[in-house]
Amino acid sequence: MSELAKLELNGKVYEFPVVEGTEKEKAIDISKLRDLTGYVTMDQGYKNTGACFSSITFLDGEEGILKYRGYTIEELAEKSNFLEVSYLLIFGNLPTKAELEKFENDIRKYTLVNEEMKNIIDGFPKSAHPMGILASLTSALTAFNPKSVNVNSEKDMYEAVCKTMGKFLVIATWTYRKNMGYPLNYYDNTKSYVENFMRLMFELPTGPYKIDPIVVQALDKLFILHADHEQNCSTSTVRIVGSSHAGLFASISAGVSALWGPLHGGANQAVLEMLEEIRVNGGDVAKYVLKAKDKDDPFRLMGFGHRVYKNFDPRAKIIKKAADDVLSTLGIEDPILDIAKQLEKTALEDDYFKSRNLYPNVDFYSGIIYRALGIPTDMFTVMFAIGRLPGWIAQWKEMRSNKEPIGRPRQIFTGHTQLTYVPINQR
Ligand code: CMC
Repeated sequence: MSELAKLELNGKVYEFPVVEGTEKEKAIDISKLRDLTGYVTMDQGYKNTGACFSSITFLDGEEGILKYRGYTIEELAEKSNFLEVSYLLIFGNLPTKAELEKFENDIRKYTLVNEEMKNIIDGFPKSAHPMGILASLTSALTAFNPKSVNVNSEKDMYEAVCKTMGKFLVIATWTYRKNMGYPLNYYDNTKSYVENFMRLMFELPTGPYKIDPIVVQALDKLFILHADHEQNCSTSTVRIVGSSHAGLFASISAGVSALWGPLHGGANQAVLEMLEEIRVNGGDVAKYVLKAKDKDDPFRLMGFGHRVYKNFDPRAKIIKKAADDVLSTLGIEDPILDIAKQLEKTALEDDYFKSRNLYPNVDFYSGIIYRALGIPTDMFTVMFAIGRLPGWIAQWKEMRSNKEPIGRPRQIFTGHTQLTYVPINQR
């Protein structure tokens, strides 16, 4: 007999089924709770709430395990590449050689962005943050691609996936070109996706640009590590926006906005700014650890802690090694890396961090690599967004094909029960 959870409320006992996933995680299915009892559950920040059934990404925060479609992140980061991982996440299986080539070529069909999009970019002030521009441009893609996607048609869905992958990369790099005052660049269909990222960013009309294969390899790995992370803040946003049957571009645009926050993807920029501040102020790492522990000080150690990982973030382990490799291969000596290492050591030996299971997360080291690769600090979160794109697409697609209901949480009202309107001249 399947497991049941019993709830006793006001002398009455209610039974709720327990559902179990393939990795043996269990959840009490309370979908009938309100109908049966009149009560709802309260779980701010959704720390204990499963919002969907998903077969895309598994993560075990206690054990530090992350898998995409059953493959460990360690194996994918070592053996695969970003487009192959994107295909895996979105379509559920590793592609054959022919499928992968077709996917790459089909993305190339959509790498031209409507020229009129440039008018929108021109409207932004130079000081605009690239993430703000990216969210707006992604949303604007809806206007330039108004045909709604028939989610029941495999052909329509496939086309929407390729279109999003193609156009998003281009507009993501345009946010940088805009800030720099450079002419906007076009995708080169003879080059790979990640090579194009470097070209789109840094190739200038004044001279040839040589793509460094070491840089491309490092970026490819970083994109793989960021590609999905189950129901995090931005992914849940994409799913919930999409649950109202808003389109893919609109949902992804909302995901970009959610990712921007410093507690989520914006942390990679915040980490670098924090390390830089420590360096400028004499490199006193211990002082910043003390500040982070002080409950009267809002300062937190950026790049530390995670909602789900209560063990080392497996992505941080891979990135830490990649940072060492990239810096030594490119011959870069960066004082920021030394400060990061000291900070990590000091925090990991400190009881405050130990007792709360606060370990470095993916954002702690990614910024150091981006910096070594010449990516400006305010573009770090855009890099995260490019990496996360296939995950968002996969989750949106899954949510629509599972025919999930519109996302609409409940609340416990704590305001006034009833007031009588007082005219303005009597207040
Ligand atoms: N520095 C100092 N104290 C911290 C930190 C930190 N970075 N993170 C958590 N704590 C403390 C927090 O003050 C609380 O202490 P207490 O129990 O005494 O009240 C305890 O640890 C638990 O923290 P929490 O805020 O309840 O944990 P959470 O699961 O709600 O938050 C987090 C997770 C990632 C938002 C948080 O750890 C944080 O703000 N970290 C810094 C920002 C960061 O690096 N974000 C990137 C996350 S990974 C990539 C991504 O998702 O985008």
